[in-house]
Amino acid sequence: MPQTRIAGIGYYVPSNVVTNNDLLKYMDTSDEWIQERTGIKERRYAHRTDETTTTMGVEAAKIAIERAGITKDDVDFIIFATISPDYYFPGCGVLLQRAMKIKEIGALDVRNQCSGFVYALSIADQFIKTGMYKNILLVASEKHSFGLDFSTRGRNVSVIFGDGAGAVVLQPTEKENQGILSTHLHSDGESAEILAMFNPGTHGNHWVPEPVADFADAPIGEMFMSHEMIDKAQNFPNMDGPAVFKKAIVKFPEVIVEALEKNNLKASDLHLLIPHQANLRIAQYVQQKLQLTDSQVYNNIERYGNTTAASIPIALCEAWEQGKVKEGDLVCLAAFGSGFTWGSALLRW
Ligand code: COA
Repeated sequence: MPQTRIAGIGYYVPSNVVTNNDLLKYMDTSDEWIQERTGIKERRYAHRTDETTTTMGVEAAKIAIERAGITKDDVDFIIFATISPDYYFPGCGVLLQRAMKIKEIGALDVRNQCSGFVYALSIADQFIKTGMYKNILLVASEKHSFGLDFSTRGRNVSVIFGDGAGAVVLQPTEKENQGILSTHLHSDGESAEILAMFNPGTHGNHWVPEPVADFADAPIGEMFMSHEMIDKAQNFPNMDGPAVFKKAIVKFPEVIVEALEKNNLKASDLHLLIPHQANLRIAQYVQQKLQLTDSQVYNNIERYGNTTAASIPIALCEAWEQGKVKEGDLVCLAAFGSGFTWGSALLRW
């Protein structure tokens, strides 16, 4: 059975740099608070009208396709991971297919939040291993700047997130000991509301910790997204940051060790760990727990913030461009996020 390798990789971030101090225009925060708690110095925000989750994904995809030495006409399946899609439906997969004028192949949308890329990679891996597809284009892109509460009320969430896109082309390889060695996916829906965006949704106040509106009296149709929800700023993400932090520092190391053990490897064998860029303090904790050196972990959250599904492919691409990932290197990708969902992928470059 062939293994799956990353044949081409690319990323795109908007040119608009937004520093921590720039956020002072909108909310009561400080550069010091943000850097100390998260490690973030700046992030990118997409152009309000000219750039979307899909258009950023297209830019990253073009680079990945070129680097894979193929053309868009060779792509036989599209997977698009995002939680900030251009439309509620249809998903960005078909929008990317249309924008890139790719033929009528399948397009799948994955919405697994910060674990989206790892989940999508695992899906692609199954399709490649079984021989169903030969050139899967996997894109992860987020335009968070369009859906955050920029008032002081939303500051614990809004300072963290940024926009950007990453893409890979996945192909089969018959080379021994090359490509994805294993992927490991997990979830725990018990904590779904700890990091969630409830609206628009069909929950009718079920599950939601604080009822968002009086649905009983809402005119039919307004239950999905009412004026009241917007007035109360209930159309933005909610997060219990400390609770996310506590769970993340347990599950990140756990799922990395799971991948290593599955392959009879140790943390010291890793050339590079690319953790999802949630918070620099989380990444540093994981590094310490696994006793990894600075050169074994790649972080770029200080420049981009948390770009959710896009963070791993952006970081992996940067690391590769900087010569930090070379043929034969053992690379671990690990993610944790809303759901909670988490996962890892171990690969030999
Ligand atoms: N600027 C200034 N003050 C802020 C702030 C901001 N942007 N956001 C929150 N605060 C304040 C709070 O209001 C609170 O004030 P109070 O003590 O007067 O009530 C104080 O800072 C501490 O808030 P808390 O939420 O306990 O801070 P924290 O140390 O846990 O840091 C996070 C907050 C969000 C940075 C941290 O919890 C975190 O990173 N969690 C993980 C989040 C994550 O990774 N999410 C993505 C998952 S993929």
